[in-house]
Amino acid sequence: MNIAYGSTLSVEDYCTLRKSVGFYDISAEQVQRALDKSDYIITASVDGMTVGMARFISDGTQILVMDVVVHPDYQGYGIGKGLMEQMREYIESTEYDCMLVNLLTDDSKIGFYAKLGYMKAEGMRLWLQHT
Ligand SMILES: CC(C)(COP(=O)(O)OP(=O)(O)OC[C@H]1O[C@@H](n2cnc3c(N)ncnc32)[C@H](O)[C@@H]1OP(=O)(O)O)[C@@H](O)C(=O)NCCC(=O)NCCS
Repeated sequence: MNIAYGSTLSVEDYCTLRKSVGFYDISAEQVQRALDKSDYIITASVDGMTVGMARFISDGTQILVMDVVVHPDYQGYGIGKGLMEQMREYIESTEYDCMLVNLLTDDSKIGFYAKLGYMKAEGMRLWLQHT
């Protein structure tokens, strides 16, 4: 499989990918704002079709990783790992010595992130969702 990585993500592709993995809907306006405000976006394409994405926001000391998604038809081919490795290379190429990378995930994905070096933040379970 020929996988190409890039940094351009349309609102439509973002929404399609989220929908493909059952994530809740976000309005197009909100998505556009989120993409505009992202500090980093990485996409994976196969035959010109966007099949994976990940992004983060950052203040230069901490990073919040979001929307790590690979379309179900393309899962298991190393694309998720590829996206996260591209992201790591980018973070390591920045001028900052110290960068705390945060992300939220459920138990079923911990193994995926553990293979990439992420550690469980034991005991840190407070969060708030506005709906
Ligand atoms: C999580 C996700 C991004 C993984 O993408 P993927 O392309 O299927 O993963 P990869 O093929 O790159 O897998 C990389 C490695 O992680 C392992 N892995 C993948 N998903 C895993 C899981 N859920 N649990 C444990 N290990 C996993 C693979 O076996 C592989 O191991 P290897 O390097 O030893 O061969 C994808 O399953 C997905 O989009 N899920 C739905 C959306 C989601 O929940 N995203 C996370 C939000 S925080």
